Amino acid sequence: MTDPDLLQLQSESVASIAKADAATLEALRVGLLGKAGQITALLKELGSMEPEARKVRGAEVNELKAVVTSALEARKAVLDETALSLKLQAERIDISAPPRPEGLGCIHPISRTMEEIAAIFGAMGFTIKDGPDIEDDWYNFSALNIPAHHPARAMMDTFYLQANPGVRPPVLRTHTSPVQIRTLLKEPPPIRIIVPGRTFRADHDATHSPMFHQTEGLVIGKGITLAHLKGCLIDFLRAFFDNPDLPVRFRASYFPFTEPSMEVDIGWNRKTGEIGKGTDWLEILGSGMVHPNVLANCGIDPREYQGFAFGVGIERITMLKHGIADLRLFYESDVRWLRHYGFSALAPAMLHEGI
Ligand code: DAH
Repeated sequence: MTDPDLLQLQSESVASIAKADAATLEALRVGLLGKAGQITALLKELGSMEPEARKVRGAEVNELKAVVTSALEARKAVLDETALSLKLQAERIDISAPPRPEGLGCIHPISRTMEEIAAIFGAMGFTIKDGPDIEDDWYNFSALNIPAHHPARAMMDTFYLQANPGVRPPVLRTHTSPVQIRTLLKEPPPIRIIVPGRTFRADHDATHSPMFHQTEGLVIGKGITLAHLKGCLIDFLRAFFDNPDLPVRFRASYFPFTEPSMEVDIGWNRKTGEIGKGTDWLEILGSGMVHPNVLANCGIDPREYQGFAFGVGIERITMLKHGIADLRLFYESDVRWLRHYGFSALAPAMLHEGI
């Protein structure tokens, strides 16, 4: 290119294009190559020129057009690329982010109590067993020496399911005690188990729910006595309520599946609700020496083996330990309540740190 005007137009255009933003670039393109653009006008002028002169001038103007066009394209590519990466940056999803907000999840107090019970009895050599929520009336009642006329069997207390002819009537288990039977039938003594689980009764008020939780305990061996029962349950209650001096009282009672049977009470202050203080007694669990009929029902000779059993209501001891007034709150799934009464998932129940 020799024409200084063309050279100047080229260098000025290329310089402006190189620093243009998207809107300026479009304005430059229209001003140079649009219908009324400067280069378009130069091309139009060629039509009125002599062929010789047009050849020389045409080559120069076309060179100018080519240089400007490629400068426009190059700048557009740079601007498009920048716009795309800005967009990607803005829409970026951080896949390394934790799936749940940290620190919000917590362990429900019922689960926590079951973990604590497992930790305490685990340290005493107990293992954990479970059984079905839907039992039949032999496991839930008959095998446990509960007579046909016993009130617990009444329709108004127990959820019965549709019975098929020829099979034992199915019931939602009213306690975790049927797992005693399932274990005794399957495993030879010595036996040392706890059974945390769900139980069901037709009951509903501030201290009863149709679905609730219990933990059963069963120890069978040779020469197991009431002294073992007492030592075991005193240790459990003192560890659970975190009070080595907790007063514990054994009071004669009646359960069909134990003989003798005992209700276990702990000391508390009825007025203030303080556990371990005051002069009042609070019933906390049922227990006893396994009835010889229960062992015999499972094919175990009661003259050779003896043992003890107990059953504790999870909701009840959780309410007492943490001062929870209404049992229904356990099941309302109110996040504010859970945050207040829940436990950190990162602090498992461990006996050596204190429960
Ligand atoms: N099954 C009883 C209930 O639900 C609790 C119970 C009492 C369990 C004494 C036992 C026991 O194993 O020995 O009320």
